[in-house]
Amino acid sequence: MERLLSWDSLLERIDACRQCPLADGATRKVPGQGDRDARLMLIGEGPGAEEDRQGLAFVGAAGQLLTRMLEAIGLRREDVFIANAVKCRPPQNRVPAPEEMAACLPFLREQAGLIRPQVILLLGATALAAVLGPGLHITRARGQWTQRKGVYILPTYHPAALLRDPSKKRDAWEDLKMVQDKLNELPSAKPEPGAGGSGPGASQAARA
Ligand code: URA
Repeated sequence: MERLLSWDSLLERIDACRQCPLADGATRKVPGQGDRDARLMLIGEGPGAEEDRQGLAFVGAAGQLLTRMLEAIGLRREDVFIANAVKCRPPQNRVPAPEEMAACLPFLREQAGLIRPQVILLLGATALAAVLGPGLHITRARGQWTQRKGVYILPTYHPAALLRDPSKKRDAWEDLKMVQDKLNELPSAKPEPGAGGSGPGASQAARA
């Protein structure tokens, strides 16, 4: 039988989690934040220094760019849910190891199951690997829709990559417009849980 999901229980388990060594170096867990009933869920890599200090996802320089990117397609941060592949800051902002991502993936799946987004935007190579599996290259996968259990998933560049290499912004803008078009195309009211499309199955959207 499908287990009943609850945000309180999920946040408690994230807070208590010691499944991988990243927990040892984390000041605060960063579960992600935003509209728990959002049509659009964004998934990044993992918390940086500022996120670790505040316990909030995407509040540093990359987060400021992300805010502007969302605004460019008529969305406020409060309209979407923003999460990361891992909930604890990797030391020196290194890329999370595959085992660390694997340890954190059940939390991401559970979040997707609770939110039941219609669209998931994967920000960068780490989110791409965590959600759609290793072996895909962000430069080839970006801008290509994948559908999993009724959820549309689009990889794009990570905002930090856009800060490092502004020539990527044109492609990222195309990707954002695809998200905007998809949200306009889909019914603005999400189906009720269990009504098919994005039901509990959406909890598997984040599965490789
Ligand atoms: N980069 C990420 O991937 N996530 C954050 O929360 C901040 C920076």
